[in-house]
Amino acid sequence: ATTLAAAAQQSGRYFGTAVAAYKLNDSTYTGILNREFDMVTAENEMKMDALEPNQNQFSYGTADRIVNLALNQGKRVRGHALAWHMQQPGWMQNMGGTQLRNAMLNHITQVATYYRGKIYAWDVVNEAFADGSSGGRRDSNLQRTGDDWIEAAFRAARAADPTAKLCYNDYNTDDWSHAKTQGVYRMVQDFKSRGVPIDCVGFQSHFNSQSPVPGNYQTTLQNFANLGVDVQITELDIEGSGSTQAQNYSRVTQACLAVARCTGITVWGIRDTDSWRASGTPLLFDGNGNKKQAYNSTLDALNAG
Ligand code: G3I
Repeated sequence: ATTLAAAAQQSGRYFGTAVAAYKLNDSTYTGILNREFDMVTAENEMKMDALEPNQNQFSYGTADRIVNLALNQGKRVRGHALAWHMQQPGWMQNMGGTQLRNAMLNHITQVATYYRGKIYAWDVVNEAFADGSSGGRRDSNLQRTGDDWIEAAFRAARAADPTAKLCYNDYNTDDWSHAKTQGVYRMVQDFKSRGVPIDCVGFQSHFNSQSPVPGNYQTTLQNFANLGVDVQITELDIEGSGSTQAQNYSRVTQACLAVARCTGITVWGIRDTDSWRASGTPLLFDGNGNKKQAYNSTLDALNAG
């Protein structure tokens, strides 16, 4: 196959990208988007601050531009993200206790209901675990409403849209030996044992020289999949360039292909210049939209899978 999506489809997987609505007028950008990808994640447009700028007042127009473009082209959509400690609207940031819990549940219910039937998978909760060696929860206003906030979020999402896969999404959870990875694993294990509705775990997989692709990456994916959930690589980017970067993209792709329940890969942007990383060249296309060595190595890995 000669495109990322077509090559991934050969093994029943998707290949997606984060999309920024304000770039949809850029024909180079949309040309690559339409040709190469069959899954879309709104980079910012479906976050809490974007969708509910004022309490109980929802604004879906910008997000709908991305969702409708994708669906009209037969692509699928990952929803990102129903509950997160970042990018909360101002009115939510200063809330706590029952008021915040209810506001979070209302946000989830309203948004998941509005998009009911249109979302392949929701990042129901994003980045709720702490970095470092604790393996525990990140302190946040949402966490302070009670340990059960994540379970409550998943139950609300399921009630609002039973057609969507419900994912927990995080970063620095790629290395099986890390406490954060183990903490997330224990939560998913507990959820599955108690029938809490969870269908997938998202591995953001932002790699760079400080956090390289771990040797046990495939083991991590497989161990989570063995809990009875899909694993999704949700925000892949790998700092670097040339053949080293190409080899790393190939390794990540091969790891996903080796795990039956790794259902697809999403890169976090199209061109290097589209990346959230202020500088650097972490993506598959250069600033001019040309394919990089990493693109070719990823396509080759998908075709070999
Ligand atoms: O929209 C405003 C614009 O009006 C304003 O002029 C401009 C300058 O202040 O800011 C714009 O908002 C920015 C937004 O991106 C849209 O470009 C925010 O400041 C900026 O913080 C935001 O950054 C995003 C970041 O998440 C924080 O939400 C990045 O684009 C996005 O790539 C990044 O993505 C996250 C995932 O959601 C979760 N995992 C980590 C990943 C990387 O941080």
